[in-house]
Amino acid sequence: MTNYFNVINPATGEFIQEVKIDSEEEIIQAIKKGHESFKTWSKINAHERSRLIKKWSEKVTENKQEIAEIMTKENGKPLSESLGEVDYSVSYLDWYAEEAKRIYGRTIPANTESKRITVTKEPIGLVAAITPWNFPAAMMARKAAPALAAGCTFIVKPATETPLTGMKFIDLAHEAGIPKDAIQYVNGRGSLIGDIFTNSKYIRKITFTGSTPVGKELIKNSADTMKHVTMELGGHAPLIVAEDADLDYAAKQTVGTKFRNAGQTCVCANRILVHENVVDEFTEKFVAEVKKLNVGNGLEEGTDVGPIINEKGYEKIVEQIKNAKENGAEVMIGDKYDADKEKGYFFIHPTVLKEVTTDMTIMQEETFGPVAPITTFKTLEEAVELANSTPYGLAAYFFTNDYRTGTYLHDHLQFGIIGWNDGGPSAAHAPFGGMKESGLGREGGIEGIEPYLETKYMSIGGF
Ligand code: SIN
Repeated sequence: MTNYFNVINPATGEFIQEVKIDSEEEIIQAIKKGHESFKTWSKINAHERSRLIKKWSEKVTENKQEIAEIMTKENGKPLSESLGEVDYSVSYLDWYAEEAKRIYGRTIPANTESKRITVTKEPIGLVAAITPWNFPAAMMARKAAPALAAGCTFIVKPATETPLTGMKFIDLAHEAGIPKDAIQYVNGRGSLIGDIFTNSKYIRKITFTGSTPVGKELIKNSADTMKHVTMELGGHAPLIVAEDADLDYAAKQTVGTKFRNAGQTCVCANRILVHENVVDEFTEKFVAEVKKLNVGNGLEEGTDVGPIINEKGYEKIVEQIKNAKENGAEVMIGDKYDADKEKGYFFIHPTVLKEVTTDMTIMQEETFGPVAPITTFKTLEEAVELANSTPYGLAAYFFTNDYRTGTYLHDHLQFGIIGWNDGGPSAAHAPFGGMKESGLGREGGIEGIEPYLETKYMSIGGF
């Protein structure tokens, strides 16, 4: 019997489409095909692989509006953000189409006249990806593009909340001429497919974007077959506003980094740390900006903040706000809800909390929602201590025009991505990834192709 799951519009709770659940046997067959396809795809010359990825990028651009509409329907983000995400995805395809041609080896001087030493790079094999619902296109593109560019084949399991965007992307890859078995998708329950992926001897690498607990499980389960892993996991980003910061600019940038995708990104500012001498002024400016945000269906013109993806996500955010209020936080704006469990939609209006303290759950756990908790600091040392007091180490932001303050913060913050007067540092040409429990490895930039390559060293003797 064929089984299906339903894709639901989180802004209305309405049914969009049913998607077939692949059986265990079908997934194993897809993995075998990916493994077989590696034998030919890895031998296609880099310039031709580059041309095909570039063609894929063109196809995606031609279909930009349609993809963005699918994305907004299944994810809920405003259409303008979905259009932006398609462009962001294309930037990964374009970057790695170029990088395919720059996979260099080297020669090493030997310690005797009778030897020559060469080092070459080879694709590692079939790569399995598990991608999240919050960026259904971009997170897939930044894994698939370097994998294919390196000469690996690729199989992805998109999130069950948002499979349609990724499926459309892969159909376009096939239309562009990338062989069907070189890039495939499978659908179904995450834990089951995760186990099939990690158990398979044909899969040589797992790349995952999602929660830290699931990432740890995938790493453990990959140990028996010694797979390569890239993990882009949770975050709890601090955003520091120094005493000298341009507060108008900082307030606007904070709104951007906090509320995009309704706060449902791994790099969203999760803790706003403001110097005590400017906290009132900053909060006033910040709240004035937050007031301008419109909450609603992402397909409607003028919407800035869409729904929360599902009830579980909603409950967690509501609980964090409640806990903060019970422990003395002051609501400056928000704490307003528009949710219907029967119909299946969950909106939270952008919320700003003041007088937040470190014992509140919002200061310890990732929120993944449109809530900005503000706390204060007296010295830079204290700001660093507060910022680093988390197991996570993905992104951190700070606002200052003093080069000494900026340099000090850069040097002391334990985070993989730093935005100095920049609320939007993500870019295809730069390495994205976290320290500590935020993950392993980097995606993007010249670093992003390396995890798909093996190094082979050869010593030739007898000269
Ligand atoms: C993420 O939230 O995982 C990715 C966000 C980004 O690429 O900016």
